[in-house]
Amino acid sequence: MKRATDFSRFKAENNPITMATCYDAWSARILAESPVDAVLVGDSVAMVAHGYPSTVHATTEMMATHTAAVRRGLGERFLVTDIPFPEHRKGVLPAMESVDRIAKAGADAVKIEGARGHLETVAHIVESGMPVMGHLGLTPQSVNQFGGYRVQARRQEEAERLLEDARLLQDAGIFALVLECIPAELAAEVTAHLRIPTIGIGSGVHCSGQILVLQDLLGMNLGFRPKFLRCFAEGADMMKEGLRRYDEEVKAGNYPSAEESFSHGKTVRH
Ligand code: KIV
Repeated sequence: MKRATDFSRFKAENNPITMATCYDAWSARILAESPVDAVLVGDSVAMVAHGYPSTVHATTEMMATHTAAVRRGLGERFLVTDIPFPEHRKGVLPAMESVDRIAKAGADAVKIEGARGHLETVAHIVESGMPVMGHLGLTPQSVNQFGGYRVQARRQEEAERLLEDARLLQDAGIFALVLECIPAELAAEVTAHLRIPTIGIGSGVHCSGQILVLQDLLGMNLGFRPKFLRCFAEGADMMKEGLRRYDEEVKAGNYPSAEESFSHGKTVRH
């Protein structure tokens, strides 16, 4: 995928969309060689890469630095970056400054959590020419209000409100909507009601696509195994095994070998 308009085309053609997060250049190079359709520099970077307890700790500077690194590895693949809390709640101008910094770092679009209270800001960013992806359901920037990471919109009135928020965001011009940790039936209903595609995480199979945090889907986020997560590799075990073998070989005097060493006037390594 190279453009925001490709998202609607995928939905129209019934083609599931795959997205994964990415925070750095080396994994971006691997993602660029994978079939995954688009990449998100999520504000989860604050937790996964920086070790903070929530995404509230992400800043525009942090998001821009990681966006630039990812762009250097990703080539032309479509790249979305989160606007961190609370930039989009400060009003149109501060939000535009954050968008400006992130766009210049290399993002093709921005993602903004929530709806009510900043719909005008979303519309303004879209009208300015920057595509916006929405995010409803379990919006991690509001974790302090939710009182934890739990499934959202289980009650009828919450489900109706989420459906209405989704419509309002679509009217404001977003090109796709992330639905995080809501009941699968509700995600199916939202997906059926919207023109734009929905991208699910913990929201069942009836979304137009799926997104997962790269370290989660590769089994590299130690101890994190929520119900919705499938690990498509056991990355942490692979890394631990590589590190164990490295340690063993060094301590046994087997690494580096003569072939892996330089000698006078001769380069052994190709
Ligand atoms: O920050 C993030 O990684 C996200 C995705 C999990 C949707 O918002």
